[in-house]
Amino acid sequence: MDEREVRLKKSQRRLFIKTAIGTGIGLSLVSAFYVGASLRPRREVTPEREPLRAGDILVYAQGAREPKAIRLEELKPGDPFVLAYPMDPKTKVVKSGEARNTVLVVRYAPEELSPEVAEHGVEGVVAYSAVCTHLGCIVSQWVADRRAALCPCHAGVFDLAQGARIISGPPPRPVPQLPLRVEDGVLVAAGEFLGEVGVRAQASSRCHV
Ligand code: FES
Repeated sequence: MDEREVRLKKSQRRLFIKTAIGTGIGLSLVSAFYVGASLRPRREVTPEREPLRAGDILVYAQGAREPKAIRLEELKPGDPFVLAYPMDPKTKVVKSGEARNTVLVVRYAPEELSPEVAEHGVEGVVAYSAVCTHLGCIVSQWVADRRAALCPCHAGVFDLAQGARIISGPPPRPVPQLPLRVEDGVLVAAGEFLGEVGVRAQASSRCHV
């Protein structure tokens, strides 16, 4: 190979490297654009983010049974509550994309419930919003010895047999109850929540919702 051929080869190699770098940067920019676009918050209401409506079927939100419909006979008095999401009965879309749709479902012996609470339940089964009224965390823990629900963020405790009255902690008001009915053995929302879900508008900050 003479000197001219060597120079030509070197110049071709430089051109290849420049092109490769240029392409790489280009691809990186495109990737960054798409990653950025995917990270951008989207506000549109997709079917998973539709609000809970009367007639929605309640399905397990976690555990081995998720996302099966909750059957009345699967809940026993004394067991911890289960977390649930509403499912559109026509489209079968589970509305799990909106934290405000998270529901607590629990069963007490009917005589343990106050009459006002029992009125919106079915055979001792009652449901409430799981969104804490203090700063919006999900009420996710069961206090077995008090048979009550605990918000882990600031230890708010709700008595679900008595309208979710506050036993202790900072929540300013009970989580609202969800009226229930049973259709073909499964739990169905008989209406919308009987009060405002989550943090009242004047509260300035939230944990999750
Ligand atoms: S957010 Fe539930 S107790 Fe504070």
